[in-house]
Amino acid sequence: MNPSLDRRSFLGSTALAGASLAATPVFAQTPAAGAGKKLKVGLIGCGGRGNGALNDFTAAAKILGLEVEVTAVGDFFKDKAEATGKRFGLAADKCFGGADNYHKVIATDCEYVLNATPPAFRPIQFAAAVEAGKHCFIEKPVAVDPVGARSVIATGEKAAAKGLAVVTGTQRRHMADYLRNKALIDAGAIGEIKGGVVQWNGTVPWIKRRNDGESNASYLAKNWLNFTELSGDHIVEQHIHNLDVAVWFLGRLPVTAVGFGGRARRETGNMFDFFSIDYDFGDDVHIHSQCRQLSGTYGRVGELFTGTEGVCMGGGKLKGKDIQVPEVKVDSDNGQVQEHVDMIRSVMAGKPLNDSKRIAEVTMVAIMGRISAYTGQLIRWSDLMTNDKSPFYNLTCTPTAADFEKGEVSLPEEKPPVPGKA
Ligand SMILES: NC(=O)c1ccc[n+]([C@@H]2O[C@H](COP(=O)([O-])OP(=O)(O)OC[C@H]3O[C@@H](n4cnc5c(N)ncnc54)[C@H](O)[C@@H]3O)[C@@H](O)[C@H]2O)c1
Repeated sequence: MNPSLDRRSFLGSTALAGASLAATPVFAQTPAAGAGKKLKVGLIGCGGRGNGALNDFTAAAKILGLEVEVTAVGDFFKDKAEATGKRFGLAADKCFGGADNYHKVIATDCEYVLNATPPAFRPIQFAAAVEAGKHCFIEKPVAVDPVGARSVIATGEKAAAKGLAVVTGTQRRHMADYLRNKALIDAGAIGEIKGGVVQWNGTVPWIKRRNDGESNASYLAKNWLNFTELSGDHIVEQHIHNLDVAVWFLGRLPVTAVGFGGRARRETGNMFDFFSIDYDFGDDVHIHSQCRQLSGTYGRVGELFTGTEGVCMGGGKLKGKDIQVPEVKVDSDNGQVQEHVDMIRSVMAGKPLNDSKRIAEVTMVAIMGRISAYTGQLIRWSDLMTNDKSPFYNLTCTPTAADFEKGEVSLPEEKPPVPGKA
């Protein structure tokens, strides 16, 4: 290994592809200017990841010698907001419920907003936070349909104009092993990538049943992980992590997707159990994407890329040319803490990170695969990004986030699409 450099110099020394696909730039491990400062933060979405993100933000602040004050928390369900609020010593009147909870969180004097709601709500909640001038941590994915993903790009441009940070929960981009392998690939360690496979083959995380007399809105907000309209389906909601690595390591976006999928056993909602997608990245490079949520089946989560002169397993083993790259230093081995360290440090350095475009693009890559599997058609990147004559360009999943606020929530049929008919 070469003598270690700080990570900013390190990233500066690697050849990175187009700006929106570049590795998240990270910042020198200098003590944060303004040590001892109190960071004011609000949280929207008080479930597993929301609570986790608040813990991670707090841990990141501590690494930087900063304190944290939670100004407010919000969730569709007030009791969930209150349970989180209690952990952070918040009064009940700073714990908001209902579909408009996020407006109330954003209206407090927080500088940072953490958003970990179901993906369908991300575009409007992110737009509201940027409108109010907040730095944003937004969980992945950032939309469930092409209209939403494109709106996140537009909101990200507003955030950039206002000097706001936008960091997203793609933690692999903040992990030393992935950053090192990306640098090695850029330095030619495996030659030219000619193909690969990315996988999230696992089990259904959870299902939640409808209670007698429960409203559509409540059932969907609770069992969101099993409805395409709320989650985007698991290719978007979960497998996005691996697709993100493919786009990052290749340094470009796919041109088309042709996919299969289906449903064998899922008990609620309208999603598929499994997807198998061929992404064509141009220049005869194909990436096979597989994802499955089926208990009792072979499981693997990871990425493999085959180059002309070697092979790379995501953030793991790399076999190829003996090339030296500078050591990557991280403040935390936990990528979910490091992403907050990088966000806060970027704000304090006056160079806010802005992941909006790249996470919206990767969300769109996953949506492209889903649409192909649902319809049985070949889907072009241009169908979703530029060709407004395409039947998929204006695809909008309903009920929308706005419908929840209007109180007009219809329940999607609890059966999956049929390819060739969808
Ligand atoms: N980066 C990662 O590794 C990672 C891991 C898990 C989840 N996630 C992402 O985090 C997000 C949340 O996932 P989770 O596992 O915490 O799910 P969860 O169900 O535990 O939490 C979601 C919370 O959002 C609340 N909610 C629903 N509708 C809302 C609305 N309109 N406004 C405010 N709150 C609302 C729910 O009541 C729930 O408390 C998802 O986008 C998921 O993909 C990321």
